[in-house]
Amino acid sequence: MHGKTVLVTGGAGYIGSHTVVELINAGYDPIILDDFRNSQPWIIDRIGEITKITPTFHKVDCQDEIAVKEVVKNYPNAIGLIHFAADKAVGESVEKPIQYYQNNIGTLCTVLSAMKSFGIKHLVFSSSCTVYGDADTAIVTEESPVKEATSPYGDTKITSEKIIKYNSDAVEDFGSTLLRYFNPIGAHPSSLIGELPQGVPNNLMPYITQTAKGIREKLTVFGSDYDTPDGTNIRDYIHVMDLAKAHVKALQYLTNTECKSCVTFNLGTGKGTSVLEIIKAFENVNQLKLNYEIGPRREGDVAQIYANAEKAKEVLDWTCEYTLNDALKHSWEWEKGIGE
Ligand code: WQD
Repeated sequence: MHGKTVLVTGGAGYIGSHTVVELINAGYDPIILDDFRNSQPWIIDRIGEITKITPTFHKVDCQDEIAVKEVVKNYPNAIGLIHFAADKAVGESVEKPIQYYQNNIGTLCTVLSAMKSFGIKHLVFSSSCTVYGDADTAIVTEESPVKEATSPYGDTKITSEKIIKYNSDAVEDFGSTLLRYFNPIGAHPSSLIGELPQGVPNNLMPYITQTAKGIREKLTVFGSDYDTPDGTNIRDYIHVMDLAKAHVKALQYLTNTECKSCVTFNLGTGKGTSVLEIIKAFENVNQLKLNYEIGPRREGDVAQIYANAEKAKEVLDWTCEYTLNDALKHSWEWEKGIGE
């Protein structure tokens, strides 16, 4: 039986906290490294409430190589590291490119250096479907071409994947998985953890739930003149719990196969849903009316992209268990409880 200690950078964040819950449920001992720049310390306690095990955490800026190595040196038997710590807002990255490159590339290089120093051989990396850019086809596989980035955020993910691939070649026995998320939505069914966007949300789901709660006056649908059945953009919305479980499967894949290469996986449902369909489903499943209007297109949006997720199904033995309606319900239940 492999060891149980897993290092998790950004483990108090949205995807990170749900993954820590699933790691504990799978019998692992996750060690969180987070500086709470995009999360809250009380999320750690909530993880403890859910799993009855409060994970060890270290408040550390993952760009700080000395500080990170001070932490990692305590866990030489760690079986792997899951790297979430990064900035992730497309719009913000256009305004603050240097912050995005410094943080997203800086933390990755720091983490890889610490892994090399202490002989940790398995990395699970949080990547994104944004690397496909304005794809030639609506449905993309892992072999679909990585296109020219449409934002600094997207470029940091493309660059990070390259760094990890080169590192996998250079460091003996180093194995890694690049997990390309589609559109994560939803929250833990307990409503104890979920997405905590800082400031005005960039993403559709938190904007919808904040509008339903009255925090935002109305949702603007960014364009209804796209070449899609109802004119609004189509995306692949995946429940954050399914995404979390995929990270445990990816870690187990690396340790069980003693993978010594760099393997890429799309993590999506394989189904496309339009913005108007999301709004209608959200209203139906939560029995409410959402205040929204059609507005102009948002710069950089692609008409449609969703995943061919067959590879993750076959290789990781992973499939989505939650439905879109589950995600829309859990998102709203979580939102209603924020600040209570
Ligand atoms: C979804 C759809 C908008 C807000 C980005 C990143 C991706 C990942 C997820 C980090 C689009 C429409 C949105 C609003 C709207 N991020 N929309 N009104 O752009 O598909 O993906 O976030 O990992 O890497 O690229 O997600 O939620 O911003 O938008 O109409 O107020 O909702 O036009 O069609 P996106 P999104």
